[in-house]
Amino acid sequence: MSALSNFIADIKTIYHLAKPIQGNTHQERLESFYSHQSTNYDRFRRRLLKGREELYSFIADKQGNGGIWVDLGGGTGGNFESISDRLSQFAKIYIVDLSSSLLKIAQQRIADSQWTNVVAVEGDVTTFIPPENSVDIVTFSYSLTMIPDWFKAIEQAKKILKPGGIIGVVDFYVSRKHPPEGWQRHSFFTRHFWPIWFATDNVFLSSEHLAYLDHNFETVYLTEQMGNLAFVPGVKVPYYRFIGRKKSDNSTHN
Ligand SMILES: C[S@@+](CC[C@H](N)C(=O)[O-])C[C@H]1O[C@@H](n2cnc3c(N)ncnc32)[C@H](O)[C@@H]1O
Repeated sequence: MSALSNFIADIKTIYHLAKPIQGNTHQERLESFYSHQSTNYDRFRRRLLKGREELYSFIADKQGNGGIWVDLGGGTGGNFESISDRLSQFAKIYIVDLSSSLLKIAQQRIADSQWTNVVAVEGDVTTFIPPENSVDIVTFSYSLTMIPDWFKAIEQAKKILKPGGIIGVVDFYVSRKHPPEGWQRHSFFTRHFWPIWFATDNVFLSSEHLAYLDHNFETVYLTEQMGNLAFVPGVKVPYYRFIGRKKSDNSTHN
């Protein structure tokens, strides 16, 4: 695409980010938001959603060996591009999402790239169960903040994970006013401004996602960082990367 067509696509995306979202159900609202942005989704979000390549690369390096991976709220499946050379080591990869327009891009990508072990599935991640029932890896990349019942999504992810299985999450967040020791504490402005800003797009930044993940899984890795906001130089939004392990059945909080 030429620089001009990219510029026009970005203006269209920004217009649809600013436009009020319609719909009576969660799925209708997602489609109202994404249906006119889907073709430019990957290019536009590359500048906004930080830490995704690092998360997927870390998991692909450490957890291959024929395992099953479920990417919850996986959208266009673009996160698997950066690890396409390592996808064949997985028995199966499911990309689960409720937005049919983003899934269409995922299906096209799977066909074009001949990822024979990858399947895009329309489904709600708060209830999704894969045909194999239990899996080795689950990931949420910037999807928890868009799932109203995010706690159900985490519980469902835990349910389908095998004991010892890995959960990886990357997303925006804000800290608690009084976070646990060793965790970051954001300023009053950060804690109050970003949730209001993102809520207009039905993206709900929370101080509780990370705490709930830490409560439900054994934390293997956690990093809290600030990422640039696309098109607004110098403005940074907090995001985290979390990797946890499901505890075995006889340990507490499993
Ligand atoms: C910001 S996008 C992230 C997509 C992709 N994971 C990425 O990193 O680019 C959030 C995704 O969550 C999906 N989503 C939100 N609620 C969902 C639900 N209950 N079940 C399945 N997908 C959901 C949306 O349709 C959207 O594709």
